[in-house]
Amino acid sequence: MKILLTGGAGFIGSHTCVEIVEAGHDVVIADDLSNSKPAVLDRLKELTGKEIPFYHIDVADRQKVDEMFAKENFDAVIHFAGFKAVGESVAKPVMYYRNNIDTTLTLLETMAKYNVNNFVFSSSATVYGVPERVPLVEGMKTGCTNPYGWTKLMIEQILTDATVANKELSVVLLRYFNPIGAHESGRIGEDPTGIPNNLLPYITQVAIGKLPQLGVFGDDYPTHDGTGVRDYIHVVDLAKGHVKAIEYAAEHKGTEIFNLGTGTGYSVLDIVKAFEKANNIEIPYVIKPRRDGDIAECYADPVKAKEKLGWQAEKSLEEMCRDSWRWQFNNPKGYDE
Ligand code: WQD
Repeated sequence: MKILLTGGAGFIGSHTCVEIVEAGHDVVIADDLSNSKPAVLDRLKELTGKEIPFYHIDVADRQKVDEMFAKENFDAVIHFAGFKAVGESVAKPVMYYRNNIDTTLTLLETMAKYNVNNFVFSSSATVYGVPERVPLVEGMKTGCTNPYGWTKLMIEQILTDATVANKELSVVLLRYFNPIGAHESGRIGEDPTGIPNNLLPYITQVAIGKLPQLGVFGDDYPTHDGTGVRDYIHVVDLAKGHVKAIEYAAEHKGTEIFNLGTGTGYSVLDIVKAFEKANNIEIPYVIKPRRDGDIAECYADPVKAKEKLGWQAEKSLEEMCRDSWRWQFNNPKGYDE
């Protein structure tokens, strides 16, 4: 298949690009580079041995997207492009609704015009809001605690309604848990702009000496050690899940939701200890107050993806920690070398 990866220069998009090519498909990347760097494209050529066609466009731009579809003749779309910082979404909700929903509506309209009927969407476990219980199952109640999460849930609803109206359309909604790690080569990885919001890139910047210590946001949660528990999944496992999802979409119609997680929850301090052990590095930390909007515990029931996609996460926490560090050690300034 020929697959469009919107946001394909990003952390998850770039790792998915490598796995999609390895699975024998053709890819095209469209990205506005608002949260990624052109250097990623050189690294993807190095890793795939292919010149990946790249469109430097805003995926909400109807004319540019139409021109791209007219030229490229896609079989499917994997839609990663979107703003994704929880805190920023609280400060700038209209920007988040405009960008994340407009890009999706532009893609749907253009796909209908060119009869492209396979769509995989980068959703998030954040749509479960404050879980009633764990592990999380796809049919559980949803409801969000921030505009970023609401954009994901609203887009899930838009896509579901679109498949009811158009019986030819196939949509797979992938609810990511916490993607971490990097390709084993150390040539692509997570490269946040500014001070990292997420735990692992913060830890690796402490390890590289760019930040003095980790702040642990709260140690009074109802968890085994009081710190927040999450389902960390290796980004390469997540990427392989997208290969299975797009191939599933090509064989089915309607909308299907899948959790992409390991099914195991680790606390912040579990992660710190695992990182220190895997890389023989000390990570200094200090306990800080809870972060607004954080939940105590969140991890997946991954059975549905195993049964219907034939996919499950395979990489260990040690590999996640080692691969994260290899990326950061080899790229102290990320892609800004
Ligand atoms: C993980 C744990 C923090 C940083 C969010 C979004 C989700 C997805 C991933 C976009 C929590 C703790 C963190 C730090 C800390 N985003 N922490 N000190 O919040 O689970 O998920 O990012 O796709 O949709 O909701 O991830 O990595 O920010 O936090 O103690 O400096 O680490 O409290 O318990 P989160 P995270």
